[in-house]
Amino acid sequence: MINVEGLSVPTLDDLSPSGSKVMLRVDINSPVDRSGKILDDSRIRAHLGTIRELLESGNSVVMVSHQGRPGDDDFTSLRQHAELIERALGVPVKFVDDVIGPYARDVIRSMRGGDLVLLENVRLMSEELIEAPPEQQAKTFLVRTLAPLVNFYVNDAFATAHRSQPSMVGFPVVLPSAAGRLMEKELVALSKLVSEANSPKIFVLGGSKVNDTIKIIENLSRKRMADRILTGGLVAELFAVAKGLNLGKQNMQVLENKGILGLVPRARKVLLSGAPVEIPMDFITETQNGKISVEPANNVNGVIKDIGETTISVYSSFIKEASVATLRGPMGVIEDERFRAGTRAVIRAAYEGNGYTIIGGGHLISLVEEGSKSDRVHVSTGGGALLIFLSGDSLPAVEALSMGGVKHG
Ligand code: 3PG
Repeated sequence: MINVEGLSVPTLDDLSPSGSKVMLRVDINSPVDRSGKILDDSRIRAHLGTIRELLESGNSVVMVSHQGRPGDDDFTSLRQHAELIERALGVPVKFVDDVIGPYARDVIRSMRGGDLVLLENVRLMSEELIEAPPEQQAKTFLVRTLAPLVNFYVNDAFATAHRSQPSMVGFPVVLPSAAGRLMEKELVALSKLVSEANSPKIFVLGGSKVNDTIKIIENLSRKRMADRILTGGLVAELFAVAKGLNLGKQNMQVLENKGILGLVPRARKVLLSGAPVEIPMDFITETQNGKISVEPANNVNGVIKDIGETTISVYSSFIKEASVATLRGPMGVIEDERFRAGTRAVIRAAYEGNGYTIIGGGHLISLVEEGSKSDRVHVSTGGGALLIFLSGDSLPAVEALSMGGVKHG
């Protein structure tokens, strides 16, 4: 058992499945390029220890994961994820392009010890996108169909632990369940961080999940947990507009198309409440004819692609001086290698500083250079999950494991 913020969460040591059929929820949601090709397999590699341990105990393992969200460019099949797991593990992975249909059920029924299966993107099922309490999620088609076919449920998807979705919270209601090794490692690191937290605490928040991030900033502000919040990516654009900056027609259009302008009143309220939110002083932009420039934040003409040099230098010095820094989400459009400088710089500052840093989120960890090692830096697979945890809210998937756990067994 591990203790996380007052919850007792069973681990594989408590469940010890052997010679059984195990459903393993992983989060292999990875950054992809325009053609859908996976750009970084960090999240995939992070689960290998759990998968190996389960297989070595003679279990057969059915993996369930999502990739992206319906309607987004990164909402893809998991076929190439299966190939990457197979290559990294050196064990055959059967990819099943079905989630709960007759084909998936037949494959699961016929599995033998040592077999490893990956089901298709679980978010193809619309019910997976609805958040509800565990007891309700236990009644979904997904849980009612798959739970009777397996003996145990192991949740290793820390990065999705903030979602109360069927594949995350429904199974522990009906199956003996535990946290996988990655989930365990993440929770241990985070509770250590919370208990050791000192001031100043810096949060560096970027990326494109603006809806989630504004909620986190509201939480951080309400609980006065942040001494400074440095923004990048679309989060920075939202707050720049909320502070009254005109980012030019093209950027405003992007914000409008993505529904972000509707969040401006909320962002203004956050600012008025005294939240220490900082926006970039300059941006790297690209014009329609491909010209790349550095532009001051109060006079932007091109499309914003990254934070500029002045911002990099100011943000880096804040990060280096912090006692605790939490980095989530990229500063720019890192899918394009020309716009990775800002994100690489804030990561470098974390490794050069003297404080404790957590770096989280699929996109961000993809830019942590291979071989970078420090006892003071925890590279987390979670982005949203880690910030929800740090802002003091509970993680529904962790709660579900603590309520269900092994007692149903
Ligand atoms: C993430 O990348 O934060 C997790 O995979 C969860 O994805 P989501 O934000 O689409 O639920």
